[in-house]
Amino acid sequence: MKENRLGINLAGLKLQNPTMLASGILGYTTETFKNIADGGAGAIVTKSVGLKPRSGYANPTVTQTNCGLINAMGLPNPGIEEFAKEISETKNVLHIPLIVSIYGFTAEEYATVAKKAATAGADAVELNVSCPHVKETGSEIGQKAEILKEVIKKVKAAVPKPVFVKLSPNVTSIMEIAEASVDAGADVITAINTVKAMAIDVETAKPILSNKVGGLSGPAIKPIALRCVYEIYQHVNVPIIGCGGITNWHDAVEFLLAGASAIQIGTAIATKGSNIFKAITRGIDAYLKRKGFRSVDEIVGLSHKS
Ligand code: DHB
Repeated sequence: MKENRLGINLAGLKLQNPTMLASGILGYTTETFKNIADGGAGAIVTKSVGLKPRSGYANPTVTQTNCGLINAMGLPNPGIEEFAKEISETKNVLHIPLIVSIYGFTAEEYATVAKKAATAGADAVELNVSCPHVKETGSEIGQKAEILKEVIKKVKAAVPKPVFVKLSPNVTSIMEIAEASVDAGADVITAINTVKAMAIDVETAKPILSNKVGGLSGPAIKPIALRCVYEIYQHVNVPIIGCGGITNWHDAVEFLLAGASAIQIGTAIATKGSNIFKAITRGIDAYLKRKGFRSVDEIVGLSHKS
């Protein structure tokens, strides 16, 4: 049997390798998910879906900076009723875990959407409690430990599947928020979502994005995300997924050493295409082999050991 140094078990989900598609990057169709799976992803996280369809903000919704992208789409999505069909169809053709990202405006809404996603076949849900700019959801929930705990408890009570909680870096102490999440029952912590940011057009003297502020992603946020994973690892004992500006195997290994059990890739897909998952997996494998490790698990959190 061929040795697989790369397989991991994430709260009961079996991944062939520790790379995952980050939420928010690609649409909602089975076809796009299949393309990502063919590119070598170990698991997929969908764009965030809510109870009702939403058209999102007016254009422009994305702007490029010299260090990353700033986006403020406004959570456009087809609503869970419509998306449930795509979840079922995707599960019929895809053989890697499918994690559905969800949002709501109340704890009950999060729980309802989570239940519908799980019933349709989602292997886990990831709670978006960290979108930096849509009012009354996202980080407006994830920045307040008490409200966040209520959301997590309601979702946990509603679904028999693992609950991932994706945290915002736009907080005073991400460690306290991570601890509160785990107290409330979070099975996995995903860190981090985008960093609140903006860009201004000097000719018109106006903010570029229609929403004025958005979330920064890409290489600029990698050191911030890495620090967050490192800090969270010292305070919780559930698996952490590292996310934020990962572009190559070297970035991925840094996150594993900081304490991430898996990593998510988003913005880099725009420039490197879906085969980035295979490239990063090969790089991690070569690193493990060169250093004499037998599995990914052996290097998770290694930078904390003296
Ligand atoms: C959106 C942007 C984000 O950075 C995020 O975390 C969630 C949603 C959006 O604009 O749709």
